[in-house]
Amino acid sequence: MRTHYCGSISESDIDSTVTLYGWVDRRRDHGGVIFLDMRDREGIVQVVFDPDTEAAFELADRVRSEYVLKITGRVRARGEGTINPAMATGTVEVLGKELELLSEAATPPFPLDAHHAVGEDVRLKFRYMDLRRPEMQRNLIFRSRLTSSIRKFLDDNGFLDIETPILTRATPEGARDYLVPSRTHSGEFFALPQSPQLFKQLLMVSGFDRYYQIARCFRDEDLRADRQPEFTQIDLETSFLEEADIMALTEELVRSLFSEHLDVDLGEFPHMTWHEAMERYGSDKPDLRIDLELVSIDDLMADVEFKVFSGPAKDPAGRVVALKVPGGAVLSRKEIDDYTRYVGVYGARGLAWIKVNELAKGLEGLQSPILKFMPEAVVESLMTRLEAADGDIIFFGADRRAVVNESLGALRLRVAEDLGLVREGWAPLWVVDFPMFEDDGKGGLTPLHHPFTAPACDEATLRQNPAEALSRAYDMVLNGTELGGGSIRIHRPDMQRAVFEVLGIDDREAAEKFGFLLTALEYGAPPHGGLAFGLDRMVTLMVDGQSIRDVIAFPKTQTAACVMTDAPGAVGEQQLKDLHIRLRQAPAAPAE
Ligand code: AMO
Ligand code: AMP
Repeated sequence: MRTHYCGSISESDIDSTVTLYGWVDRRRDHGGVIFLDMRDREGIVQVVFDPDTEAAFELADRVRSEYVLKITGRVRARGEGTINPAMATGTVEVLGKELELLSEAATPPFPLDAHHAVGEDVRLKFRYMDLRRPEMQRNLIFRSRLTSSIRKFLDDNGFLDIETPILTRATPEGARDYLVPSRTHSGEFFALPQSPQLFKQLLMVSGFDRYYQIARCFRDEDLRADRQPEFTQIDLETSFLEEADIMALTEELVRSLFSEHLDVDLGEFPHMTWHEAMERYGSDKPDLRIDLELVSIDDLMADVEFKVFSGPAKDPAGRVVALKVPGGAVLSRKEIDDYTRYVGVYGARGLAWIKVNELAKGLEGLQSPILKFMPEAVVESLMTRLEAADGDIIFFGADRRAVVNESLGALRLRVAEDLGLVREGWAPLWVVDFPMFEDDGKGGLTPLHHPFTAPACDEATLRQNPAEALSRAYDMVLNGTELGGGSIRIHRPDMQRAVFEVLGIDDREAAEKFGFLLTALEYGAPPHGGLAFGLDRMVTLMVDGQSIRDVIAFPKTQTAACVMTDAPGAVGEQQLKDLHIRLRQAPAAPAE
C-alpha cells in the first residue's frame, strides 16, 4: 500500500519508511549514485539509490523516464548545499531500499517539460501524457475542488441536484444543434441540449423550487479560445425570487469561491446597464481593468467635410467615436497599419487617428491623416472633450453602430494588452437592462438571450414596440469574460406566445417546437428565474489559463474534433442502414 504521495513528503516524515508509487520524471547518474525524481499527482520527490542496496540499485540503473515504479525507502534530510528551494519537497529526499518495476514506458512523444515547443495537436493526440504535467494536474485538481465547493454552497442553500436529458429536442440558445439520429423512429433526430433551459423551467413548474446541475451543454458553433462544442455549465433555477435575489445569491457563490480558493475578496459587484456598457466600452462584457473608453463625438462631426465621419454622425443608426490611448503616440506607422487590419476583421473600413505630440502648439502639434478635413474649432473641442495630453494617440471609428462598437471595443482590448494598460487583479460586474431583441440582419428580430426571458414591460407595450423593450436578464462579467448569464423567465402562456409572435414563430411552429412548455405554463407555473455559469471559463480565469482547453481533460480542437480518438469518425454501412441514413457523399478517405 502507498503510505505517501511523492509530492506530500515533508520534513515531518524524516526517518520514517515510506512506500511510493509513481512515474520517473527524471533519472540522473552521479558517479555511482542514482537519483530518480519520482512524480505523482501531488508532486515530485527525489529518491536516491546507492550501490549498497544492490538489487534496487541495478534496477534503478535500468529505468527510464515515465517508467512506473513502486519504491520503499527512508526519508532523510538533504545535506547542506543539496537543498533545492525550487522544489516543494526540496529539503528532503528518500533513500531507496526496494524498487519494483510496475510498467515500462516508450520514449515520450514530447519531453513533458518542453511542451511549449510542441504543437497543441501533439499535446492533444497524447493528452494522457500532457495531463501528467504538473500544470495540467494542478488545473484539473483545482477544477475538482472548485466543483466540490460549488455543490456544497448550493446544497447549503437548499438547491437540489437534478439531472435532465441529454437526448432531447432542440433547446435554442443561438447556436446550431448537435443531432443524433433515431434508430427506432425512422428519419427523426434527437438534439443534444444547448443548455438544460427548458427542463429546469419545467422543474420549477413541478415545484422543486431550487434546482442546480453541473450540466454538459452542446453547441455546434464557431470555436474560439473560450468556447468548446461541449462545455459545462453550473446551471441553476429558482422559484419566487426576483432578479435582485438571484443576483445576490450567485454573486455570493462566486465571492465565496474566490475567497476560499484564491484568498481574493471580490467585494460587491457594480451594476452597469447594457446601454452604458456598449456606449463606453463597445461591449456587453467590458473589461473594467482597462481605463480606456469610447467617447461619442457624433455632435462634433455632424458637419465636418469628411463624409466618412459626417455620414454616420448624422445617421441615427450610425456612430462616431474616439478612443484616446495615453502614451500611444509612440506607435509606429506599421503598428497603426496592423491595428487598421485588426479592426477590419470586425468590419471597420478604416482607422483614422491623431497623435498628440505637443498640445500647446495647436494644430501644429498634432499629427494625423484627417486633420485637413476638420475645422480648427472642431479639433479644439475634440481635444477638450477627450482631455487630450501630449503623448496620446486618438483612434476614430465611424460606421454603423454595431460595427463601431465591435471594432473599437476590440481595439480597446488589443491596444491595452499591447501597451501594458491592463490592471492586475479582478474586475467583476453585472450587466443589466439588456434589450429583449436585436436585429437579425434579415429584417426580423432575434432574442438577445433566449426566447424564454421575461420582458421588463407588459404584453401590450412589448407588442407595440418590441425593438425598444428591455428584458429582465443579467450577465455576470469578470475581466472581460462573460462568466454567466440568466434572467427572470416568462411564466404566463400569453406572454410566451407574444414573444414567439414577435420572433416570427407562428402558432403552429410554437406548438410544434415548444408545445410542451406552453402547455406546462397552463398548469400553475410559479414565477421563476435562474442563471448559468460557464464552469470551464470560471476555472480558466481562476487558474490563469490561456484557453478553456487548459482546464478540460479531453477537449476538442479548433475544428471541433478529437485528435486522440479521431472523433468524429465514419460509421459502417450497416449502422447507417439501422439509422435509416443514406449519405449524399461518401466520407473522405482518412488522412494517412
Ligand atoms: P448562456 O448561453 O449565456 O445561457 O450560457 C451560460 C454560460 O455558459 C458559458 N458558455 C460557454 N462556455 C464554453 N463554451 C461555449 N461554447 C459556451 N457557451 C456558453 C458562458 C455563458 O455565460 N440557459 C441559459 C442560462 C440561463 O438563462 O439560466 C444559457 O445557457 O460562460
Ligand atoms: P481616406 O480619406 O479614405 O484615406 O481616410 C482617411 C483616414 O480615415 C484613414 O486613416 C482611414 O484609415 C480612416 N478611415 C476611413 N474610413 C474610416 C471609418 N469608417 N472609421 C474610421 N476611420 C476611417
